[in-house]
Amino acid sequence: MTVSESSASTGAEVLRPHAEDAFAEELKALAAADDRPRPTGWRLSPWAVATYLLGGALPDGTVITPKYVGPRRIVEVAVTTLATDRALLLLGVPGTAKTWVSEHLAAAVSGDSTLLVQGTAGTPEEAIRYGWDYARLLAHGPSRDALVPGPVMRAMADGMTARVEELTRIPADVQDTLITILSEKTLPIPELGQEVQAVRGFNLIATANDRDRGVNDLSSALRRRFNTVVLPLPATPDDEVDIVSRRVDQIGRSLDLPAAPEGLEEIRRVVTVFRELRDGVSADGRTKLKTPSGTLSTAEAISVVTGGLALAAHFGDGVLRSADVAAGILGAVVRDPAADRVVWQEYLETVVRERAGWQDFYRACREVSV
Ligand SMILES: Nc1ncnc2c1ncn2[C@@H]1O[C@H](COP(=O)(O)OP(=O)(O)OP(=O)(O)O)[C@@H](O)[C@H]1O
Ligand SMILES: [Mg+2]
Repeated sequence: MTVSESSASTGAEVLRPHAEDAFAEELKALAAADDRPRPTGWRLSPWAVATYLLGGALPDGTVITPKYVGPRRIVEVAVTTLATDRALLLLGVPGTAKTWVSEHLAAAVSGDSTLLVQGTAGTPEEAIRYGWDYARLLAHGPSRDALVPGPVMRAMADGMTARVEELTRIPADVQDTLITILSEKTLPIPELGQEVQAVRGFNLIATANDRDRGVNDLSSALRRRFNTVVLPLPATPDDEVDIVSRRVDQIGRSLDLPAAPEGLEEIRRVVTVFRELRDGVSADGRTKLKTPSGTLSTAEAISVVTGGLALAAHFGDGVLRSADVAAGILGAVVRDPAADRVVWQEYLETVVRERAGWQDFYRACREVSV
C-alpha cells in the first residue's frame, strides 16, 4: 500500500491535492472541448494546455481559472518546448512560480505531476536512474523484478512528463546522468545489459533558481539539451495583487479560512511594501531605499497574507487588518537582525509614515518593530 492509497482508503482529506486532482474538472472539460491535434502521448493539445495555465472560457461555458499570471508568450514557448525533443528549463528568482508552473504543465500534458525528483546537494544518481530492491536482488540476482525505477525512468517508459526540481543544486556528475537521457532518449541498465528507451510523450521539466547560479552551474553540454524559459517577477503591482489574492483565496479555502474580499487593501499594502523594498525605490520614484537581504518574493507575500488571514480569523473579527500582516511583513523583511532592521526602520520613517491613509499600518508596524 502506498501512502496516497492509505489516505484514500481512510477517506481523510489530503492537505494539498496534486494539480491533476485539484483541477480534475477543468482538465476534463478541456479534454472534451479540445479538438486540436495532440502530440503523441499528450492528454491535451498545446493550445488546451496553455489555456489551462492562463485561464479562459470554453464554448460550453466552463470557466478555466488562470493558474499562471504572466506573459502569454512565455507559457506558449514553455508548452511548445515540451512537444519538441528539447527539455524545458524554468529559470527565475525565488518565488516566480517555477515549481507551480512545472506542476501544472505536467498535470495538463500527462495527467500526472508526481514523477518528481527533488534536487539537493545529496541527490544520488539512483534518484534519477533506478535503484534496487535489495531483498530480491540478494535472493534472485539482478533482474527487472529487482529493479526499482526512479521517476524519470518511469516517465520514459510510459511516455510521461518527468520533473526535476532545483536542478542546479544537484552535483555536476549526477546532473550529467541526464545528458544521455535527454539526447539519446535512453537509460542504459548495464547490470542487466538492457536499456529503457523513452516512449513518445516523454519529456522533462527542470526548475532552477537564479540565485543558486554558481552553486552547481549547468554544464554547457546539459544546457544545450534544454530550452530555457525565464519566469519574470510580476510586471505591475496590479498583477502581483491579483496573483496574491487568487492564491490566498485558494489556500485559505483549503484551510477553512474566511474569504478576504475586505482584505484587498492590506494585500495591496503588502505588495507595495515588497515591491518598493525589492526595487530599492518608493512607488512614486522619489525616495531611494536600501534593499533588505531577503528576496521578498510574491510567494512570501502570499505567506504573509495567508498568515494574516489566519490571525484575523482566530484572534480578530475575521477581517484582515494592518495589525494582522505587520508581524509577517517584519519577519519577511528582517532576515538579518542587524542590517535589515536598519533598512526597515528607515523605510518605515521615510516612506510609510508620510503616506496618506497608511497611518494604521504605520502604527501596527511600529508596534511589532520594537
Ligand atoms: N506569476 C504568477 N502567477 C501565479 N502564481 C504565482 C506567480 N508568481 C508566484 N506565484 C505563486 O507563488 C507561489 C510560489 O511559487 P513557486 O513555489 O512555484 O516558486 P518558485 O519559483 O519555484 O520558487 P523557488 O525558487 O523558491 O523554488 C505559488 O503558490 C504560486 O502560485
Ligand atoms: Mg521551486
